[in-house]
Amino acid sequence: MYLFKKISSLRRYLELFRNKNRPIGFVPTMGALHEGHLSLVRQSLEAAQCTVSSIFVNPTQFNQASDLEKYPRTPTTDLTMLYKAGCHAVFMPSVEEVYPPGLETQVEVDFGPLALPMEGRFRPGHFDGVAQVVKRLLDIVEPQKLFMGQKDYQQFLIVQHMARTLELPVEVISCPIVREKNGLAMSSRNQRLSPEQRERAAALYQTLQQAASWARQLSPREVEAKAMEHLKSLGLEPEYFELADGQTLQPVPDYSSPASVVACAAIWVGGVRLIDNLILK
Ligand code: PAJ
Repeated sequence: MYLFKKISSLRRYLELFRNKNRPIGFVPTMGALHEGHLSLVRQSLEAAQCTVSSIFVNPTQFNQASDLEKYPRTPTTDLTMLYKAGCHAVFMPSVEEVYPPGLETQVEVDFGPLALPMEGRFRPGHFDGVAQVVKRLLDIVEPQKLFMGQKDYQQFLIVQHMARTLELPVEVISCPIVREKNGLAMSSRNQRLSPEQRERAAALYQTLQQAASWARQLSPREVEAKAMEHLKSLGLEPEYFELADGQTLQPVPDYSSPASVVACAAIWVGGVRLIDNLILK
């Protein structure tokens, strides 16, 4: 496995694959890796001849300085995990390498209603930062395939929308959510939970599953209200619980009209914010 900190040397390495028309798969991450990240790497290894992963804690997508500061950083373990998984190359740039002074990296894409609800509502500016860094990384790596987790459902749709709007020559692939044994979706932020909080946080996934059965009797708005109440009664602090159209992320009026329905939620456990989702239809 090769480790690159500079764009120029990563590009020289990738030229070897590009010259032979060998597809490159890309898995962008912010490090503090877990099995969820590795599942993306494995899917890329199956689908492409060269798999590149990046580890970059992107400052422009954090809307709170304290969240950026507290974000877990475990580079040595991350590199061992990627090496063992069989990843070919890792890009671990500095902030200056990604955002050199004078280079315009803002993305001028209108995400419209996609960016407004859920994460967009509670983390203003977050998706501008995500789009900015993903576009910049895609310009650097120029992969044929980009692997993103369904765990960040709205992020996947935003990146897919950006790729389509800008006609980027990349296929954006959504990969299933990897969970702990108790159902808690794996997340770098889980490292900040105590064992007791980890157990309590598993109620998020259980509530998503319950929502699926409540939906047989109750309207979308009733399910949302019931789920919010249920999470609160368990001592969790839900930020939102929404039943949305799986393509547009707008609230669904009923279950029959949209082609797909997804339940998305964010909760706070102690000082840690967690998100999860379940496709209901
Ligand atoms: P990060 O949270 O490190 O996640 C990197 C990728 O791993 C994302 O595509 C995310 O959806 C996926 N992922 C995280 N947890 C997962 C799980 N339990 N199962 C499956 N996939 C999972 O998302 C980001 O970083 C950043 O916003 C990034 C896209 C790298 C831009 O900075």
